[in-house]
Amino acid sequence: MRPLTFSILSFLFFSGLLYAQALDPELEKKASELLHKMTIQEKIGQLSQVNGEYSNISSGMRAKVQKGEIGSILNEVDTKTLNELQRIAVEESRLGIPLIFARDVIHGFKTIFPIPLGQAASWNPDLVEKGARIAAMEASSVGLHWTFAPMIDISRDPRWGRIAESLGEDPYLTSQLGVAMVRGFQGESLADKGTIAACAKHFVGYGAAEGGRDYNIANIPENELYNNYFPPFKACVDAGVATFMPTFNELNGVPASGNAFLFRTVLREDWKFDGFVVSDWESVRQLVVHGVASDNKEAARQGISAGIDMEMASTTYSSHLLKLVEEGTVPESIIDEAVRNILRIKFQLGLFDNPYTNTSDFPPLVAEAHLAAAEEAAVQSCVLLKNERQVLPLQEKAIRKLAVIGPLADDPYEQLGTWIFDGNPGHSITPLSALRSTLKDIAEVHFVKALETSRSYSQSGFPEAAEAAKDADAIVLFLGEESILSGEAHCRADLGLPGAQLELIQAMAQTGKPVITVVMAGRPLALGQALEFSDALLFAWHPGTMGGPAIARLLLGKDAPSGKLPVTFPTSAGQIPMYYNHKNTGKPATEASFIHIDDIPVRAPQTSVGNTSYYLDAGYHPLFPFGYGLSYTRFEYTGLKAANPIVGRGDILQISVQLSNTGDYEAVEVAQLYIRDLVSSITRPVKELKSFQRVRLRPGESRTVTFSLPVEQLAYYYPGRGWEVEPGEFDIWVGGNSEAALKTTVEIR
Ligand code: GLC
Repeated sequence: MRPLTFSILSFLFFSGLLYAQALDPELEKKASELLHKMTIQEKIGQLSQVNGEYSNISSGMRAKVQKGEIGSILNEVDTKTLNELQRIAVEESRLGIPLIFARDVIHGFKTIFPIPLGQAASWNPDLVEKGARIAAMEASSVGLHWTFAPMIDISRDPRWGRIAESLGEDPYLTSQLGVAMVRGFQGESLADKGTIAACAKHFVGYGAAEGGRDYNIANIPENELYNNYFPPFKACVDAGVATFMPTFNELNGVPASGNAFLFRTVLREDWKFDGFVVSDWESVRQLVVHGVASDNKEAARQGISAGIDMEMASTTYSSHLLKLVEEGTVPESIIDEAVRNILRIKFQLGLFDNPYTNTSDFPPLVAEAHLAAAEEAAVQSCVLLKNERQVLPLQEKAIRKLAVIGPLADDPYEQLGTWIFDGNPGHSITPLSALRSTLKDIAEVHFVKALETSRSYSQSGFPEAAEAAKDADAIVLFLGEESILSGEAHCRADLGLPGAQLELIQAMAQTGKPVITVVMAGRPLALGQALEFSDALLFAWHPGTMGGPAIARLLLGKDAPSGKLPVTFPTSAGQIPMYYNHKNTGKPATEASFIHIDDIPVRAPQTSVGNTSYYLDAGYHPLFPFGYGLSYTRFEYTGLKAANPIVGRGDILQISVQLSNTGDYEAVEVAQLYIRDLVSSITRPVKELKSFQRVRLRPGESRTVTFSLPVEQLAYYYPGRGWEVEPGEFDIWVGGNSEAALKTTVEIR
């Protein structure tokens, strides 16, 4: 393809023109007619989102809704209350504009799925879409129209509590799974029953908060923004996501809620987004706290001018926009545009035609099918990180007595994880109860909690645990983090197991019995020592309502683990930031160049130590790399080749590899394809994930796995030039994790 054509196409492709959502002229006409009738006060009313009153409607709320001073309510989930609020809006306000009801439905509404970081470990877009579909069905059955998900912040810092809500460190995996969630929530049409509007958040760079400290500043240069942080958001715009939400923090000195570059230039002009933007909780008012607005009136001006259509919780818009318009500081056209964006989504949701909810029109909450899907999601989310001497899966015939030990073995609340406003621990099935019911006629299951919580230091329960372990055939430990230790504002400087949990593993290891450690957590943990004292380690994240049955199925070999890490596990917080798609630097570490701090000769001359990029006391390898995960079987990759090793722009690379199951268990492998542009006019990562496939193989089975990779997918964003595929050689790897060695090389002409 001639370069000129390519560059025009690529501009159209990447600028979203090819994807611009064609606006529905009928709907736009309705919005214009309605807008024309609205007073300035009623317009400003649409821009205000207020918190619900928890199954109550105060006289103040009633009056505001009657006067059309509210456009949206969040956090009300009582159907009767929602229908009454809607009735007031539709039947008692002057224009009868329906309210849009919102809630954080992050990884399930009533049926709770694994936390998003856990779902990401499944590398299964269909599974993630199904989970969002079920969450949307349950949420809309009570009367909700809109969720503040997917959270698609690229997250490289496990200290940051909100990594739990993310889909990990990679832009391609996050894009694939974020789009799957948008499809799941929004379905084919927002007007369909059981669909809800999704929200791409938090735009942009929340995961880059300095020090992994929530709400802290983010400084991200253009090449990083466009190549790492923007892609998942652009993918969600192209998938038709209905709404966006800014991040709390500043980006390069400008808080997102007042950042016109983000919400006018990039989101609207470049990406052609036609939904609406809701602020984060009081994030418009916080422009004063950030120190960029002198008062709430200035904050309101900055927010609406930057393109934040609706204000959540704070009231700078309802308090000051009328004055700002009357004095000519804010043109009414800016208000009209924001109102139109909101009306467009309310029309698309069908709220004008069907404003009320009849719960009996929907399947029941926590339906059997929902629980089964949540269990399958938990099975595919667990990652096997160690399995010495094949201690797993437990052989039922060899197990007479099982010692189940630890504070997270039987805690129906903690296994749900963060952001589960509407989850009910009463529906949880814990690992202990699942193991007991599965083994009831086979083995005795003896449970000792040993520690009151994951943070307890008292070892007074250890002797009882050791006693239970004494004549057990195996010990299964359930440890990790209580759910409150991750999530918003819950950041940790130390990634170790809290409390005396490591001491508990050591105590159990001293019994000489096989120790299987199951870790529930909302973030990567520094598991080095825990691994030393465990024969096997299964990382279960916070697995949700059906975490118990899922873990039992894996421990007993009904299923083989297939999860792969969506985020790097550093050896300690000191290694952060540590991620797979890093740059090579001019002096990359190698095994030969690395000297451990304990091996440095006394008074070694300065130049003889180091000279490459690593830590004297922590080397340069993570504990586990991105994409890592073991199985009960072994997979071998051979014969990697490109059918067309020399390609031009517009071509499609055909990459194939032979994948064999050389072990004894049927299992699923996530085959991952990475690339590296060997020479580029700005530095590029040493690896970039560009495709993956889940492949199920029986023992002894082999299959040729093929990847069709459009050359456009090798593009990179070059500041000042945009997206381009530069000619030259690219290495291609295919394997079971980001350190896969099987490589071939192709050339882009
Ligand atoms: C929170 C979060 C945001 C959430 C919103 C509403 O502070 O930052 O992700 O959707 O407020 O609960």
